[in-house]
Amino acid sequence: MITVRTVADIRAAVWKARHDGASIGLVPTMGAFHDGHLSLMRRAREQCDRVVVSLFVNPAQFNDQSDLARYPRDERRDAALAAGAEVDFLFAPPVEQVYPRGFATTVSIAGVTESMEGAHRGRGHFDGVATVVAKLFNIVSPDVAYFGQKDAQQVAVIRQLVRDLDMPVRIEACPTVREPDGLAMSSRNVLLSGPERERATGLHRALAAARESVAAGERDATAVRAAAIAALPSGGIDPEYFELVSADTLVPVRHIDGEVLALVAARVGATRLIDNDTIRTP
Ligand code: PAF
Repeated sequence: MITVRTVADIRAAVWKARHDGASIGLVPTMGAFHDGHLSLMRRAREQCDRVVVSLFVNPAQFNDQSDLARYPRDERRDAALAAGAEVDFLFAPPVEQVYPRGFATTVSIAGVTESMEGAHRGRGHFDGVATVVAKLFNIVSPDVAYFGQKDAQQVAVIRQLVRDLDMPVRIEACPTVREPDGLAMSSRNVLLSGPERERATGLHRALAAARESVAAGERDATAVRAAAIAALPSGGIDPEYFELVSADTLVPVRHIDGEVLALVAARVGATRLIDNDTIRTP
């Protein structure tokens, strides 16, 4: 695996691969790899001739500077894991490569960005995500880009970006990878203390409670939501939202019929976690 620091160098490497007839898979990441990231890299490895993993902690998508400062970083470990997953190029640029002096463009998407993560993290969050992902797509020109379904709203935002700007890239959303006790893998999990780690399984339990409520015949979204919230531990976990939305549009549903997406966000101590699950009526 080759680690590449500049836009010019990754462009040259990708250009050569394309010239040789190779297909290109891109896994955009902010590092601190776990099995969820590795599952994306493995999927890309199966499907594409060359795999590029970008590792860039994107300051533009953090509304809270302390959250950016706390974000876990360990490039040496990440590079070893990516090499083990047979990644060809690790694109790990410094901030000035992505946002050079004079950078003045923001990609802003309406609608799908406005609820849930957009409402709680601030509008700038998805502007930052859309801008950096648009840049990565322009820099790497991948045939396929791989994202984790754990960030379900982010996947919807990126699909909208690609559709609206006619970007010639296929977006593949890969299933959430979970710890044995159900906690969704996240780079932020390393920030949890022992007791917080225990409480963090509450997000998964809330989603399970919603699913069980629907399986037991409940169809009213307010009642399903109440069952989910009741399953969150009472102390030390601060729910931000639990939403039941249409899997296609992310618009909240009032009645559960067919397939809906349940999404939850909560603060566990100082760490903000999200999770989601698809619920289907029998
Ligand atoms: O999901 C992430 O890690 C980030 O939001 C992404 C897509 C790499 C953009 O910075």
